[in-house]
Amino acid sequence: MEYDVQDIALADKGKLRIEWANQTMPVLNLIKEEFLANKPLKGVRVAACLHVTTETASLMDVLKCGGADVAVCASNPLSTQDDVSAALVKHFGIPVFAKKGEDDKTYYEHIHAVLDKRPQITMDDGADLVSVIHKEKTDLIDDIIGGTEETTTGVIRLRSMAETGVLRYPIVAVNDAETKHFFDNRYGTGQSTMDGILRATNRLIAGSKFVVCGYGWCGRGVAMRARGMGANVIVTEVDSLRGLEAVMDGYRVMPIEEAASKGDFFCTVTGDIHVLRKEHFLRMKDGAVVCNSGHFNVEIDLEGLREVTKENREMRDFVEEYLLENGRRVYVLGEGRLINLSAAEGHPSSVMDMSFANQALCAAHLLSHAKDLENKVYGVPRAIDERIARLKLESMGVRIDALTDEQKTYLASWEQGT
Ligand code: ADE
Repeated sequence: MEYDVQDIALADKGKLRIEWANQTMPVLNLIKEEFLANKPLKGVRVAACLHVTTETASLMDVLKCGGADVAVCASNPLSTQDDVSAALVKHFGIPVFAKKGEDDKTYYEHIHAVLDKRPQITMDDGADLVSVIHKEKTDLIDDIIGGTEETTTGVIRLRSMAETGVLRYPIVAVNDAETKHFFDNRYGTGQSTMDGILRATNRLIAGSKFVVCGYGWCGRGVAMRARGMGANVIVTEVDSLRGLEAVMDGYRVMPIEEAASKGDFFCTVTGDIHVLRKEHFLRMKDGAVVCNSGHFNVEIDLEGLREVTKENREMRDFVEEYLLENGRRVYVLGEGRLINLSAAEGHPSSVMDMSFANQALCAAHLLSHAKDLENKVYGVPRAIDERIARLKLESMGVRIDALTDEQKTYLASWEQGT
């Protein structure tokens, strides 16, 4: 089997860590049983471009148990867990093309290696497979049944492709499931971002001024957890409704121009480009720590930062010091790449359980509905979302109420008032 991983000798360590993560993925494990029995993906070639983590390994195993022929590459050059890549190859028989710290050239070579398998389903986190297929490998499109997309940034890219009429196969936006973004984006990003910042810096959050740029689901999660650790949180936004929500959630809201001189920590989670720019770095306090938890490494303008920098040095793993021409120091974490996956291990498995249950069921849905789907971006069917929520609650031993007949009649009627 062809593959490209850092060190195959790490496989046994990876296998144990995958088992550990899998212990808190009950919904995915139920789907695995179903997939083993029914083989809904029998003989289907799946290319996955995901963060290669212990949780992704469990998803790949489920797809394989469902009969799929799977190949995996990384969706970010810094997020790969090398022991997991090795374990997927050695213990699960799945070809992986991913090495932590790979350069951009290798990153794209790995995408091509996975596409060389001529996938029928693509599974993306950031739409890189779809993008490369539409730009360079259009000969693959006739074989493709559809794709899934894991993240907000990818869904935005794909919706713009669909709107401009260039999307050439159907996509299910897994990110849009409520059992995905309510939990993964909020609680997952909230916890794993703080985890990444702490592992990289070992700095105290309590009493600090923590600036969160962007108050989408991820920003809400980061702000909530930073506050929980005792930070004084400032939110920056471009959207009035979100800005208002942040105010009513009790945060200080102000433009980044103002926040720049106040923060001890800055975390971008907007999905947009150059949120932190040269003029902001020059206003920052000496020792300010800057990181990103959005999908692409474009939110912090590193080029602009370099232009006002005298000297650089790596202080410790994932911490680079920029000594500015004004004599102050700014610390950039994880090269501006998603800090939760570069310096930590990404979201905990119990939340990825729901995201990846959506992925598995949506892959099966694409196959069973292939004939009905157009070249559009679809939401996750409500039945899948509700089923995952129900299974997750059951797995947690939580019961909820059911409507009485009287309540159902009341909700269906319009005559009854005061
Ligand atoms: N995205 C965020 N956290 C992740 C994880 N643990 N595995 C895969 N993708 C992720």
